[in-house]
Amino acid sequence: MACHADIYREQEQSNHARSLHPAREMPQISAGTQSEKVDPVSQARLTIERNGEGRVYLRSRRGEESASITLDWAFGSGLKGITAVGRNDAGTFIESSLTWYASVASFDLTTGATQYERRTVEDSLGRRLSEREVGECFGCHTTGYDKQRETPARKEMGVRCERCHGPGAEHISAAASGSASDSIFHPGKLEPFAQVQMCGACHGPPPQDNDFDAIRYVETTLKTVRFPSQRLVLSRCFNESMAGLKCTTCHDPHTNAAAERETRDRPCLSCHVREGANEGSSCPVAADDCASCHMPRERVMSHSLFTDHWIRVMRSGQN
Ligand code: HEC
Ligand code: HEC
Ligand code: HEC
Ligand code: HEC
Ligand code: HEC
Ligand code: HEC
Repeated sequence: MACHADIYREQEQSNHARSLHPAREMPQISAGTQSEKVDPVSQARLTIERNGEGRVYLRSRRGEESASITLDWAFGSGLKGITAVGRNDAGTFIESSLTWYASVASFDLTTGATQYERRTVEDSLGRRLSEREVGECFGCHTTGYDKQRETPARKEMGVRCERCHGPGAEHISAAASGSASDSIFHPGKLEPFAQVQMCGACHGPPPQDNDFDAIRYVETTLKTVRFPSQRLVLSRCFNESMAGLKCTTCHDPHTNAAAERETRDRPCLSCHVREGANEGSSCPVAADDCASCHMPRERVMSHSLFTDHWIRVMRSGQN
């Protein structure tokens, strides 16, 4: 890739690009270390195992009974967790009932795995996914994946350039003749709400500003913290700033979220500076680490914290 080599190299290492792999290539899954868990409902004992050829299985045992599926796909970079998807003998896709969680560096039951009926050893292997559902998993974790085909090709795994910029072929031929500037989709030019919608295709579609039921739902449902685009649009920062607040005000879309406090504070301080003073925050309480109080991290999924993008002064008892 001769064009945009720096962006390409950076993006390739990002969690976006790394959000889908063949299961046997993810050591956390294929090693199966400390995978044993007992399903509290069916009492089946679940383990992840690997055979001599490197195939990875999820096995469920109870007394003499036993059932298994091959784990084909590992969803997630492993930043928070990795959930495998496989198929049973009948060819039905199953979301593994065991997920590897980074915060505990071991397996536990998949979030939501306790919400469907699990009587048999087969049930305990995981949730059966309809074709539509498995198509949706692949849809958000791939680039250029064609739902007519069963499973994605290697070059389609993960969220890559064309997923956000659209097909590049026309752009590349235009670049070769020296006129590339308008021939590719540039999400940086989108108005704030339109960009939030674009990212929200995967990060949760934001409610329209006249859909009061949807807004009320997002406001009162803690689980929506998992969907930054739904929460951000509730913020006064989003609704009352003239210059506009977008996802890319705070995130470089080609790399992971900033880990350094200073980088995280910078966008806040681009708007919230004390008037008259030379510099410093307009917050009456603190001068740095803004997100720790105004965008607290919430546990909305087993073993995982998510940043609340509804930026505000938190009052006790609020969601
Ligand atoms: C609407 C788009 C969408 C669908 C459908 C979807 N995902 Fe995701 N997935 C995301 C986004 C966005 C993230 C990152 C934010 C988050 O964790 O919620 C993510 C994160 C994950 C993670 C955690 C990655 C990590 O380490 O942080 C796992 C595991 C995962 N998805 C598995 C699945 C599986 C399995 C399915 C299908 C049953 C699925 N996803 C369906 C969009 C989607
Ligand atoms: C095609 C679906 C899709 C789209 C579109 C998308 N994302 Fe994501 N995003 C994901 C998935 C999946 C993950 C989880 C990656 C992983 O496995 O850790 C993710 C993770 C992230 C993360 C966390 C990265 C980290 O680990 O630090 C940020 C930040 C993010 N996305 C921002 C954005 C922004 C901003 C946009 C719009 C410009 C966007 N995303 C568009 C699917 C998408
Ligand atoms: C998750 C969505 C997403 C993915 C994946 C993505 N981009 Fe971008 N890209 C954006 C957004 C959003 C902007 C606008 C950034 C801004 O305005 O700050 C952008 C801007 C750019 C720009 C203009 C940079 C600039 O400084 O003006 C280039 C070039 C680019 N992307 C190339 C790529 C390439 C090459 C890849 C794949 C290696 C890629 N992008 C993957 C969302 C994405
Ligand atoms: C693009 C400009 C912009 C950015 C960036 C921005 N804000 Fe704001 N924010 C505003 C505006 C405008 C308001 C409306 C009230 C005001 O002017 O103070 C606001 C309001 C607030 C409020 C008061 C909300 C309430 O509940 O009454 C807090 C707290 C806040 N911002 C914190 C932050 C933090 C923390 C960040 C960074 C994570 C941030 N803001 C980023 C523009 C911005
Ligand atoms: C005002 C700044 C700001 C804006 C705007 C913003 N984010 Fe974030 N985002 C953050 C901060 C701060 C974190 C936490 C980063 C960390 O802990 O390292 C974060 C984390 C994330 C994560 C990682 C998962 C998590 O919950 O910790 C995702 C995904 C994400 N943002 C997506 C988005 C998307 C999509 C948009 C646009 C709808 C967006 N963000 C807009 C500041 C922002
Ligand atoms: C220790 C927690 C904490 C930290 C860290 C923090 N704030 Fe605040 N902030 C608060 C509280 C509490 C209030 C409400 C104060 C009140 O109403 O008396 C507030 C109020 C605000 C307001 C609203 C002010 C107004 O006049 O309505 C803004 C804007 C704000 N903070 C921005 C920031 C920014 C920017 C940063 C980082 C430079 C930051 N805060 C860091 C706790 C914090």
